[in-house]
Amino acid sequence: MTDPNFTLNTGKTIPAVGFGCAFGNWTDDTEMQGFRPELAWHGVTEALKAGYQHLDTAHCYGTERHVGDIVGRALSEGQVQREDLFITTKLAHPAAPPHVAISHRLTWNWGSVPDIQQRVMDDFEASKEKLGMGYVDLLLMHWPGDFVNKDKGFAREARLAIWEVFESLVKRGDAHAIGVCNFTADHIEDLISAGRTVPAVNQFELHPYCQDPELEAYCQSHDILVEAYAPFASGAYGILKDPVISEIAQQTGRSTGQVILRWQLQCGRVVLPKSSNPQRMAQNLQLFDFELDDAQIAKINALSPKEAKRSTVDPATIP
Ligand SMILES: NC(=O)c1ccc[n+]([C@@H]2O[C@H](COP(=O)([O-])OP(=O)(O)OC[C@H]3O[C@@H](n4cnc5c(N)ncnc54)[C@H](OP(=O)(O)O)[C@@H]3O)[C@@H](O)[C@H]2O)c1
Repeated sequence: MTDPNFTLNTGKTIPAVGFGCAFGNWTDDTEMQGFRPELAWHGVTEALKAGYQHLDTAHCYGTERHVGDIVGRALSEGQVQREDLFITTKLAHPAAPPHVAISHRLTWNWGSVPDIQQRVMDDFEASKEKLGMGYVDLLLMHWPGDFVNKDKGFAREARLAIWEVFESLVKRGDAHAIGVCNFTADHIEDLISAGRTVPAVNQFELHPYCQDPELEAYCQSHDILVEAYAPFASGAYGILKDPVISEIAQQTGRSTGQVILRWQLQCGRVVLPKSSNPQRMAQNLQLFDFELDDAQIAKINALSPKEAKRSTVDPATIP
């Protein structure tokens, strides 16, 4: 793979490497868990300097404002043009457990709002205001349902209601493409079997210790691009020191992070690495001048454990 872009089912291109704009901690329970948007001032500024054109934020990350201000300054100084950037945001994140520091104003459970469609529309307008942009390149439904309500019928109706709002935003030109996050094949089937817009992407947790070839094959068969979030398992499980990946890093003269990202790209996935370190940010973009051979790809595929090691909730637990 030498082309740094993929093509969406809308016909538009998307940079294959996006900068993850979620700053905070959710894997180390010895420290405060939750979002730390203040880290985005430095992180997103450096990411633009490093040359990232694709930024992956979300309503609940609390970093839309940072993305908006930093991109705004770059636009005003003529450093970038809006058309050269690919901005993703996400809506409809359910409430998180109380020990996790995520704003209750930015998250809500499907059953706890009087009018889901109105809430999604209001959240979208708030996102746009913070971003200071007339449109987003990609709007994603953050989760297929909430983490408490186990009623399949209710969750399905709610997904369809939210999707209807998303479709209206495409029609109006507010969103150039719409997609989903954390959807299983069953969740996506709910949309497709109702004859609705096929999502442009499915963004889910995907790294050597959390692989789902069946879901990837399903997405491929429907021309849904896969985006790998937490491509380094949020830095947990010692994945960046894995002996198999370290050996391949030695063979290729690259870092373990670059090997993981290159593996993802060669598997046909957009990658969304987050870093606060300018050197690692730059490294995570330098992926198009080396290649892994089939044996190396197979070795990383084989790292998939029987039970996935996740940094977030298993989407299969959502009805
Ligand atoms: N849709 C969803 O539900 C969802 C959920 C989770 C995440 N996401 C998206 O995915 C993005 C990335 O996920 P994430 O932030 O959880 O974690 P991640 O990108 O998997 O891992 C980040 C960790 O890896 C380190 N790191 C980055 N580049 C490295 C390199 N080249 N070598 C060694 N270490 C490196 C970072 O440390 P330094 O910062 O010190 O470099 C940080 O500790 C998020 O920002 C967000 O955009 C989406």
